[in-house]
Amino acid sequence: MALPIGVMTVYAALAVWGVLLARGLKQRSFRAFLLFGVGLMLFLNIGYVVNGVPHAIASFIGIYDVLMNIGLGTAPEAAAVATCPENSCTTWGDRFVNHPAWGTAFYDRFTNGPALRSNLLIGHIVLNSVVFVLMHVQLFRPGYGPAKSTHRLLGRVSFICLTLSLICAVWLASEHGAVPEYGGVLAQYGFYSMAAFVYGCAIMMIVAIRSGDVSRHRVWAIRFIGSMWGAFWLFRVVLFVVDPLLRNTEALAILIVIWGAAPGGIVIAELARRKWDRPAARDAASELPAE
Ligand code: HEM
Repeated sequence: MALPIGVMTVYAALAVWGVLLARGLKQRSFRAFLLFGVGLMLFLNIGYVVNGVPHAIASFIGIYDVLMNIGLGTAPEAAAVATCPENSCTTWGDRFVNHPAWGTAFYDRFTNGPALRSNLLIGHIVLNSVVFVLMHVQLFRPGYGPAKSTHRLLGRVSFICLTLSLICAVWLASEHGAVPEYGGVLAQYGFYSMAAFVYGCAIMMIVAIRSGDVSRHRVWAIRFIGSMWGAFWLFRVVLFVVDPLLRNTEALAILIVIWGAAPGGIVIAELARRKWDRPAARDAASELPAE
């Protein structure tokens, strides 16, 4: 049986990304790590537009299938594990018949659901991917001097995209009460909280700059970027690890990331910013040659 190219590419990319993280920690420079994360996010998310929602979801589930199946027999023996009709919810063919239960529900929601639901998902993914890219442009090209007017324009475009994307996300989440594999109403309110963390940071960032406080704008911008990294990457990477570990309890792993990813991202970004902003770290950085 042929190996799924998409999943194998993601595994190879994750290995490279791990090396970039280790190098970043050693050299205290995370630009390469961040940019690689943006590229990998685009690779995954463009799949929804190019290959269609069902195939993209099956490929996404395929990433999680490998660890989830370690030590499992052919019938689902764990509460957070399930099978799907004709095993069509994975790109692994018949190699893995057990899948994370959230994954089988995810696939079913979008292959057997109304077209509006898939359109909301595409809207959410495309618009949030645009925001994810633009926020790095803003980070690496802050609004001083000649960059000021482009920074302002991109900020406005991002905020509109974020608002529309979150409307799609909250709409989708409002249906989750009926999806026990996600955690039911706990998932619904968890996604609402995720949206509130992200949007709250964005609003605070705007309030700060509107009142002319550039340094508070920067503080909230870094928290916002942390919340977005949390909602996307921390969510998916932590789930990859905890999903197989917590497979005996229904929906526990997915609920942990739904509730914890955005605040977790904010905390990590805040700690990193405080470290960079310590006078000693600033002085050391100013002695480095400019990139
Ligand atoms: C900002 C807070 C976020 C919220 C509240 C949120 C919420 C959601 C919801 C409710 C779903 C659909 C699950 C379903 O209905 O079955 C979803 C899926 C998805 N979201 Fe988000 N999301 C957020 C951030 C992001 C970001 C920043 C990105 C991309 C940069 C993103 C990309 C995706 C993707 C690609 C999926 C499909 C699952 C996957 O392939 O990973 N989301 N999100």
